[in-house]
This record gives sequence, C-alpha cells and structure tokens, in this order.
Amino acid sequence: MYIELRNINKTFGNVKASDNVSFGIEKGKLIGLLGPSGSGKTTILRMLAGLEKQDSGDIFIDGKNVNDLTPDQRGIGFVFQNYALFPYMNVYNNIAYGLKIQKKDKEYIKSRVTELLELVGLPGVEKRYPDQLSGGQRQRIALARALAPSPELLLLDEPFAAIDAKVRKELRTWLRDTIDKIGITSIFVTHDQDEAIEVTDEIVITNNGRVEQVGSPSEIYLNPDTPFVARFIGQSDVIEHYSRLKGFEHVKGKHNAVVRPEFVEIHKFTDNKQHDFESSMEDGVVTGIYFRGSAYEVHADIGGTNIVGRIPLGGTKIVKGDKVKVLIKQIYTFDDTSTEILTNKGLDKEELYYI
Ligand SMILES: Nc1ncnc2c1ncn2[C@@H]1O[C@H](COP(=O)(O)OP(=O)(O)OP(=O)(O)O)[C@@H](O)[C@H]1O
Ligand SMILES: [Mg+2]
Repeated sequence: MYIELRNINKTFGNVKASDNVSFGIEKGKLIGLLGPSGSGKTTILRMLAGLEKQDSGDIFIDGKNVNDLTPDQRGIGFVFQNYALFPYMNVYNNIAYGLKIQKKDKEYIKSRVTELLELVGLPGVEKRYPDQLSGGQRQRIALARALAPSPELLLLDEPFAAIDAKVRKELRTWLRDTIDKIGITSIFVTHDQDEAIEVTDEIVITNNGRVEQVGSPSEIYLNPDTPFVARFIGQSDVIEHYSRLKGFEHVKGKHNAVVRPEFVEIHKFTDNKQHDFESSMEDGVVTGIYFRGSAYEVHADIGGTNIVGRIPLGGTKIVKGDKVKVLIKQIYTFDDTSTEILTNKGLDKEELYYI
C-alpha cells in the first residue's frame, strides 16, 4: 500500500472524529471518502496532510511513518471546498506560490505555470484575479496550484461543493481525466454518492468517525457490509415486516430491510393473460408518480408498505390510483451490525439485473 492509515484515533472535546480508522491506498489510485456531514472525512485529510495530529495510530506514506513530519515535509497537495486561492494574488502568483517557497528559479516557475494552465484547460489567464474567474475555473486553478510543487499525494476536500450541478458534473469527468493523465495518488472527499461512484476507483465509507466499508463502487453498491451502508447508498427505502412480502422469508434477528428502486419492477397489465413471475408479484396501488428525467419514479402502496420503483419513459401509462403489480427482486435485510442480500425465491437468478 502506498498510503496507509493504521488505527487512527482523534477526539475533539467529546467528539470522536476518528474512531480506529484504518485503510490503505495503492499508488496511482483515486479513492473516494464518502460519508454524511460530520462523519470525519476532513479530519482524515487534515491528519494525512499533517495539519492535525492524531491522538494515536500511524500514518505511512510509501512505507515511511510520517507521524512526526510537518505538512511541507509530506509532499501533499490540497484542494479545499471553499475557494482557497489568495484573492489578492493573480492566477500566476497563486500557482507559483508553492514553487517560490521551494525556491525554484524564475524560468522554471514560468514554464511550470504555463504547463499547469495547459493541463487544467485555462491557458492565458495568468494575469486574472480569482474574482475574475467563475467558480469552476477557480477550482481548476486551485488544482493547478496544488499540483505545482509535484506532490506525491493529492487531497481534494469537496472541491466542487459550491458549484452548480451541471458544471459540477463536467468538472468530475474533467478531474478524473486530469488525474489519470498525471497518474497521481489522490483522495477525493464528497458527500455526493454519484460523484464518488462515477469518479473513484475505490470508496471508503465513513460514519461517526468510523470506517464502515472499503470497496469498489459496485461492491459497495451491491454488497453493503453494514446496515448504515445499505441505507446510505443508493435510493433506499426501509421496510419492516419484509417476510410478509412474496418470495422472502424472515432471517433470524434481522427485522428490517432496504428496498432499492432498481430492484423493483412495476407493471400495469391491461390484458387477462398470466404474465411471467406474476405469482411472485404484490398487488399495489399507485400513490404518486414523478418525472425523473430518464424515467418515471412510481410510488406504490402494497398492503400498507410504500415501495418505490422506476418505469421507463414511453411505456404503459400509469397514473395515481392505478392498480399495479409490483415485483420486488431483491432486498437487503439487516440487524444492528450486518446485512444480508435476499433474492425473491420466485425468480431465477438470471432474472436479476445488475448495475
Ligand atoms: N477543530 C475542531 N474542533 C472541534 N471539533 C471538531 C474540529 N474539527 C472537527 N471537529 C468535529 O469532528 C467531527 C468530524 O468533523 P469533520 O470536519 O472531519 O467532518 P466531515 O465528514 O468532513 O463533515 P462535512 O461533510 O460537513 O465536511 C465533527 O463532529 C466536527 O464538529
Ligand atoms: Mg468536511
């Protein structure tokens, strides 16, 4: 492992910001730290960067214990959520800042700034001041500034949080491409799941200072280890008494389950034929239907339980109050500590679709 955190603990007053945090990152990988507000993401980055000292535990970079190294001895670039460019310096001086501290010569600094502005797709803006740039441009410059001293590790703390949704989506793809180009090991903090799933190689899920799960986006999505992850990832609705659903039996000790829309099919049959798997479907009544851009989201009541599914655009028209058949293909059951995936017993395995 190129980066390793081992049994890190950090307490602020009576808040346990890091609770025995351990995980590693391979060289060149882009890792996502994903978790709710206050779960300890920024604290992890700050300790890695040496801006905060852990109470106990060890941090290794490239096999070397860096516990006692100062921030500038650690070779780390940092991009913050709020625009951390110096407002009174133009773009050139912002990017050159770290290089001047490193006492690089003028010629080198000039060529490095030009090179970085090319890399971030903003050549020629050297003379502008931060307030003459858009939010997205400012964050690109912040990235250029973080990369200028050629760090070994790049930390990005919600770099696009203050940027509107459309630009943010473009920036994500751009960031992934840019990081791939330079091949730098990076950690990307976000509380936006889509961002983490689309951008990163691996995700570390944080909750209450603890690491809940580490895995690839698809592992986390399809095999949540803990109840928290099952509820946190994807659009998840918790249902009680899941054993009342057709095709699912009660698992000892696990009283609740999570259902995700992608594992729910909703049909309105207008003929009298017997349809595939109809015997495994629940009778439901549509309580709401919402346009979601690429599909309709349908809310249906099945015997007092609300189930959410999606139907494609252009299919059978469904309106509120319609009687529908609801096929629940898969659920996650959980107790306080573990989860288990259950597949509808009326289905063949092949009938499950995966993301
Ligand atoms: N310097 C500090 N002094 C006191 N408490 C702190 C300090 N820094 C962090 N905390 C507390 O530690 C916990 C974790 O904070 P942290 O900033 O790491 O969370 P986060 O996951 O980055 O949240 P967000 O998504 O809101 O940025 C929070 O309860 C926070 O209030
Ligand atoms: Mg934070």
